[in-house]
Amino acid sequence: MESQKQNKLWGGRFTAPTDKLVEEFTASIGFDKRLYAEDIAGSIAHARMLSSQQIISQSDTDALIAALKQIKGEIEAGEFNFSIALEDIHMNIESRLGEIVGTEIAGRLHTGRSRNDQVALDLRLFLRRQLQQVNRLIVELIVVLVDKAEVNLKVIMPGFTHLQQAQPVLFSHHLLAYVEMLKRDYDRLSGCYDRLSLSPLGSGALAGSSFPLDRQMVAEELGFSGITANSLDAVSDRDGVAEALFAFSLLMVHLSRFCEELVLWSTVQFNFITLSDSFCTGSSIMPQKKNPDVPELIRGKSGRVLGSLVSLLVTLKSLPLAYNKDMQEDKEPLFDALDTVVGSLRIMAAMVKEMQVNVGTLAEQAGAGFSTATEIADYLVRKGLPFRSAHEIVGRVVSFCEQNNFIFTDLSIDQWHKFSDLFQEDLFVFLAPQDAVDAKNLFGATSHNRVFEQIGLVRQFVADKR
Ligand code: ARG
Repeated sequence: MESQKQNKLWGGRFTAPTDKLVEEFTASIGFDKRLYAEDIAGSIAHARMLSSQQIISQSDTDALIAALKQIKGEIEAGEFNFSIALEDIHMNIESRLGEIVGTEIAGRLHTGRSRNDQVALDLRLFLRRQLQQVNRLIVELIVVLVDKAEVNLKVIMPGFTHLQQAQPVLFSHHLLAYVEMLKRDYDRLSGCYDRLSLSPLGSGALAGSSFPLDRQMVAEELGFSGITANSLDAVSDRDGVAEALFAFSLLMVHLSRFCEELVLWSTVQFNFITLSDSFCTGSSIMPQKKNPDVPELIRGKSGRVLGSLVSLLVTLKSLPLAYNKDMQEDKEPLFDALDTVVGSLRIMAAMVKEMQVNVGTLAEQAGAGFSTATEIADYLVRKGLPFRSAHEIVGRVVSFCEQNNFIFTDLSIDQWHKFSDLFQEDLFVFLAPQDAVDAKNLFGATSHNRVFEQIGLVRQFVADKR
């Protein structure tokens, strides 16, 4: 019992050992070991600062830093013995430090520091690194999309509202819509990164430290742009995690919407695209089946990321200042969401790269469903009719065609005249989906020129970010 009590880094005040159930219940080492590199980087910076401020000796600092590097090597080689009794990554590393340099020197490292500012620091360092990784993957997906858009620049497809045929658009325009969402995701994550740029170290448990710590020095060494302004806030703040989870959620919502379209488009009924066999699976009973498991699963996993966001927000919402153990529940949702986002972005890029665009079906379908009706109404407006009257007239033409199983191009000019005298031979150039597309020539619209222009702008965005 005595030895168990002494194993704890906070053992001094305690007369009874921790119940085994409590150890298991409260331990976070199973997941927070993922923060080991950040924890060690933070400790090295803290040790350097302690000696530069003459709070501990240079030789102690040298021993601590060498041992911390050794521990990093041990963890990376899979030789480190993580212990549940030591609760979390911070205490596991500190305890091993004691074994290497002796408990006297190891015990000096925690001068002026608490696990509360330590974990706040680790999380910020971790998130900053991971957000950059996610942003790199977003850029890679954007490149795949813009390459596809460029190769298929001339391909026309039906555009939808309410999932009903609306107006023809370029297939590239549709792909570039997702690029715009991804560009915003990129910016959101960059903004999130910027707000994680202040070092909390020196906030101590909650009140700061009475040692003359050089907070700025630690911040600079770790690549932060400044230091936090309120110690209570710094140890209680998980805004950065929540923000990242929101940005991840929205990113997954974007991927999920795209995946929903890929699932729909790859059906026999739509047949707009064909997913590569390598990205689909079969059925154990139906020999003909080729299932779009990958887009389905990305769509499914988006729910999980949204769940992580909600879980963290609910955990935080009633917490009094400052640190509360509840906050340990921030890590699993973060790690899970992060892994899901990284996995989804990677496979999405690979899948879209391999996907085949069924140009013929798209072109054929682009003209179906009276998709150029708005064009014809606009034609009448150009001949002087108010838009509402033009809409009414073309509506009647559509109804007539539907009743007689015609499409617009089946009607002769005499038949058009029955609906309005304003229809002339020049109407016929407006009936082709290609003309409808090219008529949409405002900035941001679907004409060939404008989409080509957007491809250039996206390429510029990619070049700036790489
Ligand atoms: N494992 C803890 C966490 O992740 C570290 C901070 C613990 N601080 C404390 N006073 N119990 O939140």
